[in-house]
Amino acid sequence: MRGKTLLIVCGGVEATHGIARAKEMGLHVVVSDGDANAPGFALADGRIVASTYDAGGTADAAQHYNDTVRRIDGVICMGADVPHTVAAVAQRLSLRGLTPETAHLAMDKLAMKDRLKAQGVPIPWYAPLRDAADLQFAMLERGRDLVVKPVDSRGGRGVQRLNGGLDAETAYARAGAQSPTGRVMVEAYLDGPQISTESILLGGIGYTPGFSDRNYEYLDRFAPWFIENGGDLPSHVAPAIRADVEATVTAAARALGIAQHNYKGDMVVHRGRAHVIEIAARLSGGYFCTREIPLNTGVDFVGAVMRLALGEPVTPAELTPRRDTPIVQRYVFPEPGRITVISGIDEARAVPGILEVLVSKQAGDVIPVAESSAARAAMILATGATVTEARANAARACAAIRVETAQAEAA
Ligand SMILES: Nc1ncnc2c1ncn2[C@@H]1O[C@H](COP(=O)(O)OP(=O)(O)OP(=O)(O)O)[C@@H](O)[C@H]1O
Ligand SMILES: [Mg+2]
Repeated sequence: MRGKTLLIVCGGVEATHGIARAKEMGLHVVVSDGDANAPGFALADGRIVASTYDAGGTADAAQHYNDTVRRIDGVICMGADVPHTVAAVAQRLSLRGLTPETAHLAMDKLAMKDRLKAQGVPIPWYAPLRDAADLQFAMLERGRDLVVKPVDSRGGRGVQRLNGGLDAETAYARAGAQSPTGRVMVEAYLDGPQISTESILLGGIGYTPGFSDRNYEYLDRFAPWFIENGGDLPSHVAPAIRADVEATVTAAARALGIAQHNYKGDMVVHRGRAHVIEIAARLSGGYFCTREIPLNTGVDFVGAVMRLALGEPVTPAELTPRRDTPIVQRYVFPEPGRITVISGIDEARAVPGILEVLVSKQAGDVIPVAESSAARAAMILATGATVTEARANAARACAAIRVETAQAEAA
């Protein structure tokens, strides 16, 4: 496998750990990104400047690289939800990967829900919306416990909960503004513990080494937006619930046509039963696959996905957790405004059990009003003898980091 060439679509900061892992595996790594200054380029052996969302442009550039520089043996994406681009490159160069149809089902939330519903996979009630009046009608029929979202965006942008008194016009307009195709949909809000999963379907069987409780302690603080504040591993759910979540996310993957590939689930345990909020045909962002899964289980998930893309053998044994080390991830959310001072990073790193402190903002940067992950200034990974202890360690480290912002200059 050493010396094989892997194209990683996206050179953003969340891809850098994965690019480094590919280098450690002895791969020749080509990175593609539309931003010529993307941090991932510094680690790569080859570079392709093409927008991650531009499937045709990336496929053209990959073909050119393949024909003139070096043969490309596999393609994946990391830190960007662009399975259509991966599928286009795979198709053009006859590499392993998802079909464009499966990639489409994984990116278009309405097409995905239609398919999951047809296959009997548990999902929330949902409907497309043509305008705000459609939403008014849904509210009259079903009440306010609804979620309005763009059909084809990501990162939680434009996803809003209606229960706090938000009016239909505002919610519809905000969601539409985030959809590249201007399409909006509504879903029933399903209450219950939310779980992130990360799996691989291998020979018809799903393996899910990634299983994390999502932390939504700030649901009220950031309402109507859903802003996740990290997560906890191992999950608190009972083994039978875990089995149901794993079986349900794998049924969803099969329903979309995923096989010999990885998939990421946004799951909720609603009234004791696993439901799919969404499934993505890519690696997770936010360091779940690159840091949390290996730390929690000892499974080299990213390495396995890369080998699968290159047509190398991957065994069930290597996807089976070897340990269950408590790992807690938390973010620092400063007050909105322009950052004047960030301090306490060294103190945070010195807190017992802290595995990583990653600062993503610097003095002069603007913290926007929290509507998306752009409101975060730092990420912390902590461990401890128990999840409770790891949580306390993470909280101490977060408290040590002080980010002062000048409110008058808030964007
Ligand atoms: N019907 C629902 N019931 C409960 N929670 C929901 C529902 N829809 C969305 N959410 C919450 O909002 C989050 C973002 O929604 P969704 O995954 O649809 O948007 P996204 O833009 O794809 O976000 P991301 O890229 O973070 O997955 C979900 O992960 C979930 O926590
Ligand atoms: Mg999602």
